[in-house]
Amino acid sequence: MSRIAYVNGAYVQSREAVVPIEDRGYQFGDGVYEVCEVFRGALIDEERHLGRLNRSLAELRIDAPVKPGALKMILREILARNKVANGYLYLQVTRGVAPRDHVFPQPSVRPSLVVTARQIDPRKGEAAASKGIAVISTPDLRWKRVDIKSIALLPNVLARQEAKEQGAYEAWLIDAEGLVSEGAASNAWIIDESGTIITRQVDHSILRGITRTTLIEIIAAHGLRLEERKFGLDEAFRAREAFITGATTLIMPVVAIDGHKIGGGVPGPVTLKLRHIFHDAAARST
Ligand code: PDD
Repeated sequence: MSRIAYVNGAYVQSREAVVPIEDRGYQFGDGVYEVCEVFRGALIDEERHLGRLNRSLAELRIDAPVKPGALKMILREILARNKVANGYLYLQVTRGVAPRDHVFPQPSVRPSLVVTARQIDPRKGEAAASKGIAVISTPDLRWKRVDIKSIALLPNVLARQEAKEQGAYEAWLIDAEGLVSEGAASNAWIIDESGTIITRQVDHSILRGITRTTLIEIIAAHGLRLEERKFGLDEAFRAREAFITGATTLIMPVVAIDGHKIGGGVPGPVTLKLRHIFHDAAARST
């Protein structure tokens, strides 16, 4: 089946879709994005994703490309036209098209909006989760506002590539203090000997993951202990369990960090339980 993309007001064949060469996303990485999971035909945590999108746009002083109601209709239309029941929706907004100049276009131009969706066999994620993934550590080379979900992802791309070349799936980024910031495309978590679940607190140094936010609610609802604080690799190596969260991975067990086995090298029971119950708690919008 050919795929359909929404590009600046039109639904077009993905392989024929183009953006102008002077789109500021293309030239400067001047834009933001969201990735939303699609589960059984529903967008998972749509309101939270759209809330974070609006925050990213406001931080960069990019106008909303369309009204909220229109955006929701476009998202649904893209799922329907691509017949996506399980997979991901990708949404990108850039500052728009203007002759190349670092300063914002004056007068301002219409922001560009692109939406695509992709069907993924959910059994792939389940197979990966049953084995768990390996992560490596690498220096965090990113800028100081990674709370903004910017499309400028070069350090993340390089980190993920490094992970792949070392036979791992994700890279945990190490900050200037030697502590774990987050994954290249996920948030990082450990569970210590006492069963306390630990993840870094949100500030400008990590992305406030939507999966992270929903999981924190699940942890509270199940009476589990949570500490939002920084942790280092030494603590991670001693952890009973470790995992990552993100819209494309959900809650994914980590079984090795830099070659050190975590939890005997098999996915931890708490992690698997949290993964299992995640969709019971996540908001579904059709
Ligand atoms: N990435 N941290 C970073 C740096 C991320 O890129 C992501 C998500 C997350 C997790 O956020 P969420 O739970 O809202 O997906 C944390 C997406 C999936 C991506 O770039 O493909």
